[in-house]
Amino acid sequence: MTHRTMREFLAVLERKGLLRRISEPVDRMWEPAALAKWVFHGLPAEQRFGMYFEKVKGSDIPVVTGALGANTAAYATALDVEADGINDAWVKACRNATPSEVVAKAPCQDVVMTGKDVRLSSLPIPVWTPGKDKGPYLTTVVMTRNADTGAQNVGVYRTMVRDEASVIANLAPGRQGFMNAHTWTAKGKVAPIAWVIAAPPAVHLASVANLPYGADEIEIAGGMMGAPVPMVKCKTIDLMVPADAEIIIEGEIHPGETEIEGPFGESAGEMSLPKQRSVVRITGITHRRNPIYYGYTSQMPPSESTMIQSLTNAGVLLKILRHDLGEAGVVDVFLDQHYNGGRGHAVIAMRPGLPGHAMRLGRLAAALKLFGLKRITVVDDDVDIRDPMHVDWALNTRFNPARDTVLIDEVAAALPVGQRQLPSALTGKMICDATLKVDAGTFSLPPKEIMNQALDRWKELGLPEFQIPKRTKLRMEHP
Ligand SMILES: Cc1cc2nc3c(=O)[nH]c(=O)nc-3n(C[C@H](O)[C@H](O)[C@H](O)COP(=O)(O)O)c2cc1C
Repeated sequence: MTHRTMREFLAVLERKGLLRRISEPVDRMWEPAALAKWVFHGLPAEQRFGMYFEKVKGSDIPVVTGALGANTAAYATALDVEADGINDAWVKACRNATPSEVVAKAPCQDVVMTGKDVRLSSLPIPVWTPGKDKGPYLTTVVMTRNADTGAQNVGVYRTMVRDEASVIANLAPGRQGFMNAHTWTAKGKVAPIAWVIAAPPAVHLASVANLPYGADEIEIAGGMMGAPVPMVKCKTIDLMVPADAEIIIEGEIHPGETEIEGPFGESAGEMSLPKQRSVVRITGITHRRNPIYYGYTSQMPPSESTMIQSLTNAGVLLKILRHDLGEAGVVDVFLDQHYNGGRGHAVIAMRPGLPGHAMRLGRLAAALKLFGLKRITVVDDDVDIRDPMHVDWALNTRFNPARDTVLIDEVAAALPVGQRQLPSALTGKMICDATLKVDAGTFSLPPKEIMNQALDRWKELGLPEFQIPKRTKLRMEHP
């Protein structure tokens, strides 16, 4: 079973040296975000860590950022698996969706503030692109519900603080949160919406999964946790939220109430254009005693946002290809961690069957509506898809650009470079089949026995120790 609470996870992360506490007071208007930018834009991935700001000026609540998605090791810790087990864990979780359980009493409601007591300034909500953003915003799990089916949805939608008791939510048209809100507002009704801050880690990581409309990410989180996620009814709206979260913000979207949102730093790497988005009236704030505030580090990639979206959705894509589409030869999937998960570059390792199989698989992945993939590279299963040098080797040796590329034009709405294009602007996709199409014989590397003998000699000679790269292990296994 994975961590039941964010607190448990943070303690484990700290023990592993993947979370650092900052005890000097910080200013939420710039310091947490700007310091976290250096984590992602200064350090190599394996040296990154989450940040726990113990003292935030003007607040009793600490701020944590970058902890779930500092790097693959931090993400794997959040799910309590080894780094190479992340994809399999998501495949298993998606196939073992576990309905949540309702509880009457919840830690996230230890303290309840409603009516005039609602003050968003009581929370240390940071500014994320200081010097450029319009103001502070929430980046966390957002829950909505379909008025007709009752199905709840979980996503992450940037939410700008408007005043003490209202926000503007970036519920983009087409997103499932928007679709849910529309089921109420189109009938002239008020839509319930809630922000969940510092929920169990599996809830955070499931919330960015590209699931079909109607599927409940909380059930996938339950599948990941190996137990139902305890859910409690909100105090002021008819919505269920994770009981073990640190903070819940409850609100209502009234039909027709919109205002300008942004500009804000975008996860693809540039500033958004201001847009009309839903105003939400905050009806309540509930929290644990001595709560912890969590906000994702996003904006210029690589970021926590690109890391978690890619790591979660690689497993979701693997599950779809292998189990929903019956492509048993698909061995592994990697999504580029410098872009928004399912919208960038997917590298798929497979054992192709008949000629043309790899390209057909690439076309299947390209056609998936839930994934806006722009590039798909298919390689054999003897290539380490997480090693850019190895993928590039496959593209140099086993891929003929003129023959093994398929370009599909005008199939997907463009994201940046494109944020400044019209929302309806369409973009193309590229599929590269870098699998071997001829018998190329064996690799130009000595056989395994000689390589292993040389390793023994290496040690005898006192040469420096090293970790054998996976690409080398794979090549040594080749007959
Ligand atoms: C930090 C962060 C911020 C995000 N902000 C937004 C946003 O403002 N609007 C949006 O449509 N998607 C945003 N996303 C992406 C969605 O949360 C994600 O694609 C999710 O799967 C959408 O859920 P849905 O398919 O249920 O709508 C964000 C993701 C992260 C990690």
